[in-house]
Amino acid sequence: MSHVATLVDSSSTETEALQIEEVAEHSPPSVLAQVLRTVRHHLAQATDGIRQVAARTGDGEWEQQAAQLRRIAAFVEERVITLDIGQRSFLLPDQFLRFSMLLRERRESARLSGIELSKRAGLSLRTIKNIESGQVSPSRDTVLRLLDVAELGLAWKDVLDDPGPEDSGTSATDTNYNCYIPPGYEPLRMFQQFVRMLNGPGGHIEQTNAYLEHRSAFAYVTMCNDAEYATMYRANYPFDVLARRIVAEGGHHPMRVIALGAGDGRLEVRFVQHLLTRCTNPDIELLLFDISQPLLTTAYQHALDTFGEQSAVHTLMVQGNFHDLASYPQVSYLPAKGRRRRIYTMLGYTLANLDNEPRFFQHSMAHACAGDLLLLDFQQRTTPATASEQDIRLHDSALRVALPKAYTEFLAAPIRTHCHDYLSHDFSLRLDTQCLIPGSYALDAVATVKTRSQAERRFSMFRFKRYDEGLLAESLARFGWEKLVSLPIGDSERAPVAMLLVKR
Ligand SMILES: C[S@@+](CC[C@H](N)C(=O)[O-])C[C@H]1O[C@@H](n2cnc3c(N)ncnc32)[C@H](O)[C@@H]1O
Repeated sequence: MSHVATLVDSSSTETEALQIEEVAEHSPPSVLAQVLRTVRHHLAQATDGIRQVAARTGDGEWEQQAAQLRRIAAFVEERVITLDIGQRSFLLPDQFLRFSMLLRERRESARLSGIELSKRAGLSLRTIKNIESGQVSPSRDTVLRLLDVAELGLAWKDVLDDPGPEDSGTSATDTNYNCYIPPGYEPLRMFQQFVRMLNGPGGHIEQTNAYLEHRSAFAYVTMCNDAEYATMYRANYPFDVLARRIVAEGGHHPMRVIALGAGDGRLEVRFVQHLLTRCTNPDIELLLFDISQPLLTTAYQHALDTFGEQSAVHTLMVQGNFHDLASYPQVSYLPAKGRRRRIYTMLGYTLANLDNEPRFFQHSMAHACAGDLLLLDFQQRTTPATASEQDIRLHDSALRVALPKAYTEFLAAPIRTHCHDYLSHDFSLRLDTQCLIPGSYALDAVATVKTRSQAERRFSMFRFKRYDEGLLAESLARFGWEKLVSLPIGDSERAPVAMLLVKR
């Protein structure tokens, strides 16, 4: 008992310093985030202390109390996820790991105690301990203060550099880089073709083009952050159930989450947060894959902000075209040794971005191996698959109203900017029941464009698709992906949006 009391007491004497120091340390400051971090820290210490007592005394009741604390800790983690609280980190996870070990080494060889170093650097003892124990990644200011302590002999190179390649053979993405751009990815050429198309006679625009323009990316992020969309859909994804299922399915192996069409990365990062809480020894590579550089960096920054202090997640960006996925070794190659479990995600209705879903699953995903998982979301149709066009028109409310302004802003950005002699545009939705996945239909967003120099032209800019869950699962099974679970997003069974987890 006294052992536990000592542990708890010693940490509580530092509580005040911890709170004040850390509130000041990170910007932008979030008091709630800081307090929660303190709570997490103390819970971890108390759980560990009680576990030690249980081991020393052999008294099973202690272990039960520790289990109680673990439940509270899990509750706190859930809340941290729900509140979407992250922390901006200055160092990449692997840089932080190296730096934390180096700091301890240099301090010890300089024969400085933690307190002496904290005084020389003008930091709290807690900050030094947090860094050395790998618990809290330092801010830039903290690193600068440590660089100023002459006895440590630290230089920027020590902080940012890598000790050199280690051929672990475990991963195709073990690298010092945070971004990979595959050969053959030519954004300028894509963009040129897109602009040419916009100045041609009109026609079908492949949906990848909708995200190429920086303004489109900006409009897309604005749309995703719409409060109604965020609270009605984004906040209700059943990631907890899915993470539990994935961990049960694959044991506690290292994972590689390949986020296809990661966009701003909010959903993908939240999904990984849930995986973290479900794994006992998490080791996750998160590959953010997108065509759009601004979206990719937005997602990457968000991932770093969130996982900054958790070296269990290593985040990388891949900028490329997911139609060419099979030819990108960084994504498709699986080393025989040290295999990571692969989980592909296509969230935020990225599936509907595919003009030809069968071709994507048969060819672009041809490299997928047995055991790979794929998680996707989609909008459900509200009528039976056999419904007539008339019934669909009657029941799909999107067809009865104008395309919302947020969407027109997003889709019109390239028209405004790149159609020569642009005058005006107008959007209408056209029902298309000739889709490739049985039971699905599309609402085709057609832009009528007026310019000074050409006759009126029409462009099919984007397709919003609705799927029948059962028939979609059947189609995926034909391409080798068997359904594990389907879940509605939101309360009702007939929710307008649903998720499918399938396994190769
Ligand atoms: C519907 S958004 C979903 C974004 C994000 N997952 C979300 O939940 O909001 C589709 C994403 O896929 C990306 N994308 C579209 N076509 C692509 C392609 N051919 N290759 C790679 N990424 C693509 C877009 O840039 C966009 O970020």
